[in-house]
Amino acid sequence: MAQLWGGRFTKETDQLVYQFNASITFDKRFYKEDIQGSIAHVMMLASVGILTEEEKNAIIKTLNEILAEVEAGTLEITEEYEDIHSFVEANLIDRLGDVGKKLHTGRSRNDQVALDMRLYTRNQILDTDEQLRELLQVILHIMKENTQTIMPGFTHLQKAQPITLAHHMGAYFEMFKRDRQRLNDIYHRMNYCPLGSGALAGTTYPLNRGLTAELLGFYGPTLNSMDGVSDRDYLIEFLSALSTIMMHLSRFSEEVIIWNSNEYQFVEIDDAYSTGSSIMPQKKNPDIAELVRGKTGRVYGALISLLTTMKGIPLAYNKDMQEDKELSFDAMDTAKGCIALFAGMLDTMKFNKDTMRKSANNGFTNATDAADYLVKHGVPFRDAHGIVGRLVLYCIDQNKAIDDCSLEELKAISPVFEDDIYDVISMETCVNTRLTVGAPSKISMEQVIALEERYLEEHPKISS
Ligand code: ARG
Repeated sequence: MAQLWGGRFTKETDQLVYQFNASITFDKRFYKEDIQGSIAHVMMLASVGILTEEEKNAIIKTLNEILAEVEAGTLEITEEYEDIHSFVEANLIDRLGDVGKKLHTGRSRNDQVALDMRLYTRNQILDTDEQLRELLQVILHIMKENTQTIMPGFTHLQKAQPITLAHHMGAYFEMFKRDRQRLNDIYHRMNYCPLGSGALAGTTYPLNRGLTAELLGFYGPTLNSMDGVSDRDYLIEFLSALSTIMMHLSRFSEEVIIWNSNEYQFVEIDDAYSTGSSIMPQKKNPDIAELVRGKTGRVYGALISLLTTMKGIPLAYNKDMQEDKELSFDAMDTAKGCIALFAGMLDTMKFNKDTMRKSANNGFTNATDAADYLVKHGVPFRDAHGIVGRLVLYCIDQNKAIDDCSLEELKAISPVFEDDIYDVISMETCVNTRLTVGAPSKISMEQVIALEERYLEEHPKISS
């Protein structure tokens, strides 16, 4: 057991208590951020005269050595230490003796862990944003190729009106674009430095908090030391954004699963992204999409867990807050993994364009347009709705599409129908006369695609 305290204790910690309390098994993942924070702290301590130049240089050099050895795998972070902060400090003291003992001047593990977690999360936000950008590029590519690929649009999972694959994909583009905007908002709100908050009440040393904030790429220091050590809002916001991303991925996965089913056959998932059955040789299962859908609950769970952990915590730091890590790390890993796999699956997926088109043709998706035709020829909409309803019933009975009816058959239902009806209710016309902003016509889609392309160019990453 290597711990940073013990002076006021007369007994050794019980072994089980030690293990229950320790966080090294999971906080070791931010060793880099811990060292980065310590280096900034030491630079600032020297700048205000608390450390000499030599002391500063010795500590920074040794911290960098520790970092390099951990990265190289020659220095192992073992469970002998209580947490990552103890590990770094103990190693520093081992190597530098008394000079190393000065590192923690004007600092508490409370503001240290608040800083480490913020630095780690800030990087995660950037990574997640980058992955979403790649996913958006895959989606945009599919959109560009498919402004003429007709498919049924659904409501209630019932065929409703014809749309295009570009249009359907465009809906997901908007969702993931908003997800990136959310990440951007969170980044800007959380980018303030808690270091210098001390245990809770700041410190009597003349720390220059503005300098450490600047050295670590923050906009400035947090403005209340109690809040500085006990704020986890940024994590809750990030978990909420990740939950929304997962919800979008899960909806998309559900569509892929339906589209890939034997009944639909709109898509074929690439062999590299599907799995087989141990018993049924014919099976090719959409496991990746199912797993993405399934893992969504895990990320929601992290959000609810942290909200629940935080709800009863009086100011300022309490040990409950150590619970923020494992669940957040799991949610971050899960969401990133899901975005990457989903993008790969989408990028390699084959769209059965003929099947999609036939499905749109055979589902009376042009019924609204047939009714609108009658309206344009003077029939009141409610009557037109009734007439086309009867026409659909007739077609179901005859097992044919509206387009397959002869003009005679159509006229028997309404004399208003003329020869030009066939062009009006063709899938192409139905789609391409929907010219409003955001609608599926080729012209509208091309305008939107140009805007989305510009958005991606203008927002390559979150910028401070
Ligand atoms: N492992 C702790 C955590 O994750 C670090 C802070 C410890 N502070 C303390 N007062 N015990 O929250």
